[in-house]
Amino acid sequence: MKALVCIDLDRAIGFEGGLLFRLPEDLAFYKRSTLGKTVVMGRNTLLSMPRSKPLPGRNNLVLSASMEERDEELKGGFRFAVRNTPERALEYLRENGLFGEAVLSGGEAVYRRFLDECDELVVTQVMARAENADAHFPEFRDSFHIVKELGPYFADGLMYYRRTYRKNG
Ligand SMILES: NC(=O)c1ccc[n+]([C@@H]2O[C@H](COP(=O)([O-])OP(=O)(O)OC[C@H]3O[C@@H](n4cnc5c(N)ncnc54)[C@H](OP(=O)(O)O)[C@@H]3O)[C@@H](O)[C@H]2O)c1
Repeated sequence: MKALVCIDLDRAIGFEGGLLFRLPEDLAFYKRSTLGKTVVMGRNTLLSMPRSKPLPGRNNLVLSASMEERDEELKGGFRFAVRNTPERALEYLRENGLFGEAVLSGGEAVYRRFLDECDELVVTQVMARAENADAHFPEFRDSFHIVKELGPYFADGLMYYRRTYRKNG
C-alpha cells in the first residue's frame, strides 16, 4: 500500500473538512495515480468529495464505525466498500487482492492508522504554512527516506515539490 498526500511545512493537510491549497495539477496527479486502483479513505474524506460520493473509476474503501458495512458495485465494475474497523479494512484489501495497489488517501485519522502499512509515500510538499489547519499528516521522516524529487512547481502563488519516499530497512 502507498499513501498520497499534500502537506505544508508543518505537515498540515486540512481545515474544516477541506483541503488547504488549490493545486489543479496536484488533483490531476492524484486522479492519474489512482484511476483503476483502490483508494482508502476515512468517512470525513468521503464527505469532502464532490457530492460526498465515492470516486468513479476506482475501487473505494471507506473506514467508518458509524456507517453500515457494504460492498456495492459502481460503474465499470469497481467496488464501493465500507468497513467498520481498520482490521476489517485490511482484511478486505487482502482477501480481494487489492492491498498492493491500494492508495491511502486520507484524512488524518486514516493516515495515522495505516502509515505503518505503507511502503511508499508520494508527498506533495508545499513550501508554505497554511494560515489555519486542523488536520495533519503524521511524522514520517524517521521511518522513510526520499528516493525521488520532482519540481519545483508553481501554482496559486505557491511553490511545491513532489517527493517519493520509501520505507527504511
Ligand atoms: N492534503 C491531503 O492530501 C488530504 C487528503 C485527504 C484528506 N485531507 C483532509 O483531511 C481532513 C479529514 O481528516 P480527518 O482525520 O478528520 O478524517 P478522515 O480520516 O477522513 O475520517 C475520519 C473518520 O474515519 C473513521 N475512522 C477513523 N479511524 C477509525 C477507526 N480506527 N475505526 C473505525 N473508523 C475510523 C471515523 O468515521 P466514523 O465517525 O463514521 O466512525 C472517523 O470519523 C479534511 O480536512 C480533508 O480535507 C487532506
